[in-house]
Amino acid sequence: MKVLIIGSGGREHAIAWKVSQSPKVTGIYCAPGNAGIAEIAECVSISAMEFDRLAEFAAANEIDLTIVGMDDPLVGGIVDVFEAKGLRIFGPRKNAAILEGSKAFSKDLMKKYNIPTAEYATFESPEEALEYLETAKIPIVLKADGLALGKGVLICNTLEEAKAGVKTLMEDKEFGSAGDKIVIEEFMTGREVSVLSFVDGNTIKIMTSAQDHKRAKDNDEGLNTGGMGAFSPSPFYTAEVDEFCKKYVYQATVDAMKAEGRTFQGIIFFGLMLTEDNGKIIPKVLEYNARFGDPETQVVLPRMKNDIIDVFEACVDQTLDKIELEFEDNAGVVVVLASDGYPLAYEKGYEITGQENFKGKTDYFLFHAGTKFNEAGHAVTNGGRVLGVTATGATLKEARSKAYEAVSWVNYENKYMRTDIGAAIL
Ligand code: AMP
Ligand code: GLY
Repeated sequence: MKVLIIGSGGREHAIAWKVSQSPKVTGIYCAPGNAGIAEIAECVSISAMEFDRLAEFAAANEIDLTIVGMDDPLVGGIVDVFEAKGLRIFGPRKNAAILEGSKAFSKDLMKKYNIPTAEYATFESPEEALEYLETAKIPIVLKADGLALGKGVLICNTLEEAKAGVKTLMEDKEFGSAGDKIVIEEFMTGREVSVLSFVDGNTIKIMTSAQDHKRAKDNDEGLNTGGMGAFSPSPFYTAEVDEFCKKYVYQATVDAMKAEGRTFQGIIFFGLMLTEDNGKIIPKVLEYNARFGDPETQVVLPRMKNDIIDVFEACVDQTLDKIELEFEDNAGVVVVLASDGYPLAYEKGYEITGQENFKGKTDYFLFHAGTKFNEAGHAVTNGGRVLGVTATGATLKEARSKAYEAVSWVNYENKYMRTDIGAAIL
């Protein structure tokens, strides 16, 4: 079968790699792709938001299944456009992708269906938000309702910061219309865990757990980024946490979406905070995403045993109850190699060397994110997050030392990485 993947990041490279392992697959296309994806897929220069052009491409090239990696096209309704043309596509329809597309929607859903999450209130006017803050408990969290490249969340440690945050989101419109509405949320503390799942509308199957590192600098300092590294599994995702979430979070979310007439088929990413109450761990949902996480996918998929095509098809055909997900009894660590300066200004266009060091190895992976070919045909840096170096090993400790060994195999000017990915697990 022929598969089209929509996106251009490390996540899409990991998906393309996993798809390439399936004996059922005869051709892989990726729109728009990057210099690493180009080694296993034919890259097509159509942007992820050009739904009609993508659908025309899929029809003309007899694509059997399209897989959407990114949030923007899902929230924008790419699945509905493909389905209207009779094309098979994996991902939630627009009315279900709102689970990620509107934080106010997801908070209201959780409240209505008793899914554990932080206390919150929603505001559409800055005056009302400011008035609410006067009596609110500080620290407090402000969230733009809409998509904001993962940057629309402000953790405010003083009342002044919170007031300034309301101005940033609602008046200065730093994230555009994403800030027309905001959620003001109770500040929670605890360990964070990312749990990815496949959903077919009725059945949900949980993948192995992971944890990412969002801040740009070591010791969780610096600005928030898309993610500077991740490890899987998370040792903090215990059997007790799993049991709690199976009872109160996972199926409850799928059932709630169905009850709302928004049947969800695709990936649900649960961002969990493991809060503590009198020595007891209470997981609460920080956020939902309607797609694979990045960089989490770069450590989760290399550990997955199933043929991923079987799982994607089961989600589309609503037969996921017949599938057992299986993961290796090992561990994975991914270290993101970025461009110095990210997530603010950075330079690009530097030649990448040493990629051949990863060839032929089954426990090391080099996933490309912001890369492209220059006119001479060399892979060059083309983004803030450039590469993901993943290693697997028997234990997290082993995977971590292998990943940090391999980061020096590949080079480019202005290479930057965190040196403490996974350090908390040692
Ligand atoms: P989100 O995009 O909603 O995952 O938020 C980004 C990050 O902000 C999360 O990964 C958390 O580290 C932090 N965060 C979000 N909501 C809260 C909260 N209610 N309390 C504490 N930290 C939060
Ligand atoms: N790594 C977090 C995300 O993909 O949103």
